[in-house]
Amino acid sequence: MVSGGETEELWKEVRQGLQRSPPTLPPKLFYDARGARLFEEIMRLEAYYPTRTEIEILRQHVDQMAERAGPDVLLLEPGSGSGEKTRLLLSALESPVAYVPVDVASVQLATFAQEVRRDHPSLEVLPVVADYTRSFPVPRPRREPRRSVAFFPGSTVGNLEPPAARAFLAHLAEETGPGGGLLIGVDLVKDPSMLEAAYNDPEGVTAEFNRNMLRHLNRILGADFDPAAFEHHAPWLEAEGRIEMRLVSRRDQRITFRPGLEDEPPFHLDLPRGRFLVTEHSNKYTLQGFRRLTEAAGWRTVETWTDPNEWFAVQFLERDP
Ligand code: AVJ
Repeated sequence: MVSGGETEELWKEVRQGLQRSPPTLPPKLFYDARGARLFEEIMRLEAYYPTRTEIEILRQHVDQMAERAGPDVLLLEPGSGSGEKTRLLLSALESPVAYVPVDVASVQLATFAQEVRRDHPSLEVLPVVADYTRSFPVPRPRREPRRSVAFFPGSTVGNLEPPAARAFLAHLAEETGPGGGLLIGVDLVKDPSMLEAAYNDPEGVTAEFNRNMLRHLNRILGADFDPAAFEHHAPWLEAEGRIEMRLVSRRDQRITFRPGLEDEPPFHLDLPRGRFLVTEHSNKYTLQGFRRLTEAAGWRTVETWTDPNEWFAVQFLERDP
C-alpha cells in the first residue's frame, strides 16, 4: 500500500529524475511483488554470477567472518533480510544479542522476521520499518550488545554513485556507532563480456524485470507506459565503471503521468524513438577502489574474502572504537 504522503514524496522523486538527461528512475521501483519474484529468478540465472559467488564466499569463510564480528553483537541489516545469506551469518555468530532488519517493505520484513525468530528462539528480532538510506532509530535490545555490526551483502552498494555510496557508508558508520563493524559484499570489475552477459541474459528475465518497473509506475503513479514499446539494454560503461540498465524507446511516444495528487496537473514525458530511460546503475569496483571509497567514509578494511576468480568480494570493516 502507498499512502497519500508517500505517493507525494515518491512522485517528487520520480518527476525530478524524469527531468534529468537522460531521464532516470529510482531502482527501488523494481521491487513490487512481481519484481521481487523476477529478481529471485535473476539470482538463479546461469549468467548472473554475483549471488551464487557471494553465497559460496560466505559458505567458505563465514566462521572467520563471525570471529571478526565477535560474540554478543547486534546485527543490523539494511534491507529486509537476504534469506540464505543472513541465515548463514546468524548461524555462525556467537550468541548474537539481536537481529535488526530495516526496510520500507513492511510485509516482507515481518515475514522474514518471523522465520528468523523460529530458527533462533533466543535471538531478539527487532524489525524497523524505515528507509534505511535515511537516519532511523536502532532499537535497544533487552541484553546489552558488545557492538553493532551491519550486514550489507549483494553489492547493493553498487546502486549508488560513488559520492552517494560514500555518504551512505558514512551513515552506516553513524548507525553502528563507536566500535561498529560492517560486513559488506561488492561486485568486482571484470571482463566486460561477463558483466554484460549477467545483465542481458538470453532467457530475457532481466529484460522483463527492467520493463516491470514501467508496469509498477502505471499502477502507483498513474502512468500509461506500454512496456512492449521499450527495449532492454544494459551496457558496461568502461569510463564510469558501471553497468547501466536502460529502457530504449522503440518509437516516438508521449507518456502521461496522473499521480492523482491534488493541484498536480498531468505530467508528460516525450520520448523520441531511440531515447532511453535509465533504471539502474550497478557500479563495480576494484579492491583498491573500494578500499578508497570505504576509507573516505570512515571505515578501516580489516579482512577481505574473495572467490578464486576474484569476481566478488566480501569485506569486514571497522570504524573507530
Ligand atoms: C540488487 C542491485 C545488486 O545490480 O546486480 C540484477 C540488481 N539488476 N540485475 C545488481 C540487478 C539487474 C542487482 N542489485
